Amino acid sequence: MQSKDKSDLSSPPDSYRDRGTGDSGIGNVSVIGAGTMGNGIAHVFAQNGFAVRLIDVNPAQLEKGMQSISKNLDRQVSKGTITEDQKKKALGNINIFNEISAGVANAALVIEAATENTALKLKIFQELDSFAPQDCILATNTSSISITKIASATKRPQQVIGMHFMNPVPVMKLVEIINGYATDKKVTDTIVELTRKLDKIPCVVNDYPGFIANRILMPMINEAIYSLYENVAGVEEIDTVMKLGMAHPMGPLQLADFIGLDVCYSILQVLHQGFGNPKYAPCPLLVNMVTAGKLGVKTGEGFYKYVAGSKDLLVSDQFKGKLTG
Ligand code: CAA
Repeated sequence: MQSKDKSDLSSPPDSYRDRGTGDSGIGNVSVIGAGTMGNGIAHVFAQNGFAVRLIDVNPAQLEKGMQSISKNLDRQVSKGTITEDQKKKALGNINIFNEISAGVANAALVIEAATENTALKLKIFQELDSFAPQDCILATNTSSISITKIASATKRPQQVIGMHFMNPVPVMKLVEIINGYATDKKVTDTIVELTRKLDKIPCVVNDYPGFIANRILMPMINEAIYSLYENVAGVEEIDTVMKLGMAHPMGPLQLADFIGLDVCYSILQVLHQGFGNPKYAPCPLLVNMVTAGKLGVKTGEGFYKYVAGSKDLLVSDQFKGKLTG
């Protein structure tokens, strides 16, 4: 077993650790993947008193994930929404693992938040089926891959469900809960109840391409990119119309950068292939940007350019001065 005991952090009392088995019947939670979504999910469960095992095959990613959780808890402490003691308890509720087998051994619920790659997810779910307890619920945070397909990698498709958190997880209220073709209603009810315990709002939907969130969000983002591509307006104008005109916290181009242009591209492909409808075809400009490695915030440039430590929103040089005349 490759767990790392964080004995330098205050350990929560046993009663605290054992919490979370109330109406939802869920106690220990394992999260696969310590990237942005995985560490956010671990953060929220740990903050709400659940014993969390955060699993990642990459030790450096685990370390980075724990640092992000600590930093994001610090934001909450500085805002006064949690105390320093609550932060310590939350961190003390998380143990880290490098192997799925050990990390899911006593889990009541596993949430997979690995890279958005179908082959990888199918492999992980095969492993989960072998190593997680028989009654364990297996959830995936996929943003668009079919839950029914992921469930087909296991011998317990009735216990497989989508639990789609939004980024940044500690802030966003929604959890989109997706029923696969075989998901048992009792499993859905358990996950709905559990979501409320995290102080989040569950919305249950069915398993069709893009579910609801991305079926509606991605065509809007794609249309914003088409508007830029066709030179209807510049980056700032497109985003300002949607921010001030529709009260969106971020314009669609900024949001695309935030989500990752590669992720937007891959979700649009799922919609395009899944429905066979050309209206979902990714805009050629998006395809070019992904090919050129301009993926948004994570690579430092997309529609905007990002300077570490600065909150300024600067339009990428590529799109400067390209307004309709
Ligand atoms: N952890 C904890 N708190 C965080 C945080 C994090 N990772 N990120 C931001 N916050 C908090 C800040 O502390 C701040 O708290 P207060 O309101 O109490 O002051 C608040 O969130 C706002 O943060 P900032 O002041 O730094 O920045 P902001 O006002 O520009 O808001 C934002 C940032 C919350 C991200 C906001 O711009 C927003 O809501 N954007 C849209 C996000 C969105 O649409 N997410 C969904 C993406 S789609 C997806 O995730 C699913 C998919 O499948 C693609």
